[in-house]
Amino acid sequence: MKKKLTRFDLQEMKLSKKKAVWITAYDYWTAQFAEKASMDMILVGDSLGMCIYGYEGTIPVTMDQCIWHSEAVRRGAPNTFVIGDMPFLSYQINCDEAVRNAGRFLKEARVDAIKLEGGRRVCPQIKAITDGGMLVMGHIGLTPQSSGQLGGFKAQGRTAETALELIQDAMAIQQAGAFSLLVEAVPPEVCKIIRDELTIPVYSIGAGIDADGQLMIVSDILGIFQAFTAKFVKKYASLGEETLRALQAYAEDVRAGRFPEAQHTYNMIDGELPKLMAALKK
Ligand code: KIV
Repeated sequence: MKKKLTRFDLQEMKLSKKKAVWITAYDYWTAQFAEKASMDMILVGDSLGMCIYGYEGTIPVTMDQCIWHSEAVRRGAPNTFVIGDMPFLSYQINCDEAVRNAGRFLKEARVDAIKLEGGRRVCPQIKAITDGGMLVMGHIGLTPQSSGQLGGFKAQGRTAETALELIQDAMAIQQAGAFSLLVEAVPPEVCKIIRDELTIPVYSIGAGIDADGQLMIVSDILGIFQAFTAKFVKKYASLGEETLRALQAYAEDVRAGRFPEAQHTYNMIDGELPKLMAALKK
């Protein structure tokens, strides 16, 4: 049976330069595949707003939605380190709200850690949640919940000034007690500096190879998410096309009277049909 990693295993992987690999998952069956594929971690991202619910961004996603999907993922991947993603307004208001909502993830969905977006301005919340005995992963760079302030879903830290801001955010997040940090859509040079500077593991999504591991959104790598494809995505399958092909073939078979065939139906028990016909005649 697969052994679930702990924060100490993840820390050790950084020290021994063993890359952690993880994906997002939002449901039971994807989580089962992720565990079978030996993912080190699974993120139940608030990207579920786009990938599952068809929202334009992550802002409408609620705590309840995140809990329901995290619960399903936990059931599908009981032996994988699962991270719940705190949705917009579940931690920004104050530290009490942040601790209460982080605690819901652990109590109701039994995740191993939570992730929240932002740099120095969310450090009080990171400290409060950590002081509550929970594991927090930070997330800087392209932080989709503040895409309005960032001017859209854009790469971050491309100038010396903004890169410096990110490095300072990263150090403050570590100082606040986070056990790891995710860096999104940032030039590889900047991610490398952060990875080398921090003692906690630093993971990349679209921030290059010089990180302690890589995250990808499952709907992107499987070729399911159709709205847009970020530059940093590599597609490992075309399940969108395959799903369309299968549904069209099914529809054609039904309309042409080719489905169902004999092998898709249940036979009556021998001798029962004549009895039924006789009963109907009476
Ligand atoms: O919600 C999510 O999947 C995320 C990734 C984009 C990093 O936070």
